[in-house]
Amino acid sequence: MIYITRRETFNAAHRLYRKEWSDEENLKVFGACSNPKWHGHNYTLYVTVKGAVDEQTGFLVNLKKLSEIINDKIISKIDHKNINLEVDFMKDKLASTENLAIAIWDELYPEVKNLGALLHEVKVFETEKNYVSYYG
Ligand code: NI
Repeated sequence: MIYITRRETFNAAHRLYRKEWSDEENLKVFGACSNPKWHGHNYTLYVTVKGAVDEQTGFLVNLKKLSEIINDKIISKIDHKNINLEVDFMKDKLASTENLAIAIWDELYPEVKNLGALLHEVKVFETEKNYVSYYG
């Protein structure tokens, strides 16, 4: 088994909150990420796929195709957008990094399979200090 990782970056706005809670309650639970007027992060996404090396190409997957899929399914939908309001695969979900990693996994899993590999890990950095890893 061999693994390969593609790194992408995007910028997006969000707010962590429950609408049935007051701003004060949201602030207590979600901190600065509950700012009622939104705020943004510079996200970094690592997508790791696994499989066997193709004898003819020496590749696990065609990285250009993997990059196109990530851009099509994720980056073009989320970059410079509001995650709470504009991103179809995050609709009705709390816009946490955990939920984002799970949603990105769900979007990419079938696409990676079509490339002849398996999705291994989706890693999302919300800041340089915090990241989430999801393995399905
Ligand atoms: Ni935040």
